[in-house]
Amino acid sequence: MNAIHLRLRVLLLAALAWPAPAAEGPFFITYTHQMEEPGNLEIATREVMGKPEGGNRFFGITNELEYGVQAWWTTELYLEGQATSHDGALFTGYRWENRFRLLPHEHWINPVLYVEFENINDANRSLLEVVGHDGQDGLASPIAIAGREKKRELEAKLILGSNVRGWNISENFIAEKNVRHAPFEFGYAVGVSRPLALAARPEPCNICPENFQAGLELYGGLGTHDGFGLRQTSHYLAPTMAWQTASGATFKVSPGFGITGQSAGFLLRVAVSYEISQFARALRKQPKQAVRPNPYDDLERDDKAGQKLFRRECASCHGEDAQGMGHAPAPASASPGEILRVLRDGSMRRGMPSFSHLPEQQRRQILSWLKTLDSSATTPHR
Ligand code: HEC
Repeated sequence: MNAIHLRLRVLLLAALAWPAPAAEGPFFITYTHQMEEPGNLEIATREVMGKPEGGNRFFGITNELEYGVQAWWTTELYLEGQATSHDGALFTGYRWENRFRLLPHEHWINPVLYVEFENINDANRSLLEVVGHDGQDGLASPIAIAGREKKRELEAKLILGSNVRGWNISENFIAEKNVRHAPFEFGYAVGVSRPLALAARPEPCNICPENFQAGLELYGGLGTHDGFGLRQTSHYLAPTMAWQTASGATFKVSPGFGITGQSAGFLLRVAVSYEISQFARALRKQPKQAVRPNPYDDLERDDKAGQKLFRRECASCHGEDAQGMGHAPAPASASPGEILRVLRDGSMRRGMPSFSHLPEQQRRQILSWLKTLDSSATTPHR
């Protein structure tokens, strides 16, 4: 077996051993202020289907690799293609994106700066954002012509996000500029979402309300530097739903409805993502067994749910039994107040991400499990 083969195999094993939720809420277009956890790699694909008036049905494909460089810095590469019926299929370009969290602690409103370089052509149908006077006429141009029209663009977004009582409310403001000519184009996206249940069940489960998030997003263009405003712009209203399975894969679906004459009438989006925790570490060493006997069978409901959440969200850095690993200390030794504070704010510069996106109930369930470890510190349970 050659080395690449072996690595792939280890990677696959690692992925199965350390699944983690890919969570950015259920949105497709709106960004929340949640960052990729440092060291985690998310692999995702998302598709959009639509049919502009007077054009052919198209299928836009976006493949993504997202990596948490620091707790406050996430980087992402997109590779895109499209297929149009009665026309053809082609590669439509790539984007490289970076997101920086601007404030180290969690606030009412949390700003993140997004900077992206795009090298795509006019046949791109990913519709990852709608800006300027983007409209359905642009979606109807034939591949042979649009594919030759190259666009190099810089895009900046200001992302504002709030997590309040299990709800996420996010607002994005977009400015895009062709590097050579053309004026600035503007756009926006706003979204609101909530998991169907705020507390976690004690047992591992797939079809349980805590694993579903429902949301609604609204996005569209705001014209250009020369013609700012809503005139001749497209806007979409899109309910969204995400389902996170116990294995770590997340599925999303969102029907979108065009609400102005410029917009395409209907867009259907679907996505699948998978997150590999501690990617670099997983490459370096063979992971532990995924299934281990549970020494905490007699725990109360909340403690057990907390343990389940801990293994999913925290174990890749702090160890399966919260014993501490590498730079991540044994968390149970901190006071309850400190644990809740760190879960909310993170310790951004030192590699501990914020978990403000988890509902408060789930953070308390984790605390409740950690405290069972603390009180039994003198009577080791292993
Ligand atoms: C990406 C790795 C990573 C993940 C995931 C992670 N942590 Fe941490 N955590 C750290 C690091 C690194 C530190 C040390 C930060 C510091 O020194 O300020 C830390 C610190 C802490 C502390 C403070 C400990 C002390 O003694 O001050 C607590 C509590 C904690 N983490 C709990 C958790 C919980 C609970 C989760 C899951 C919801 C979690 N962490 C997920 C890396 C991680």
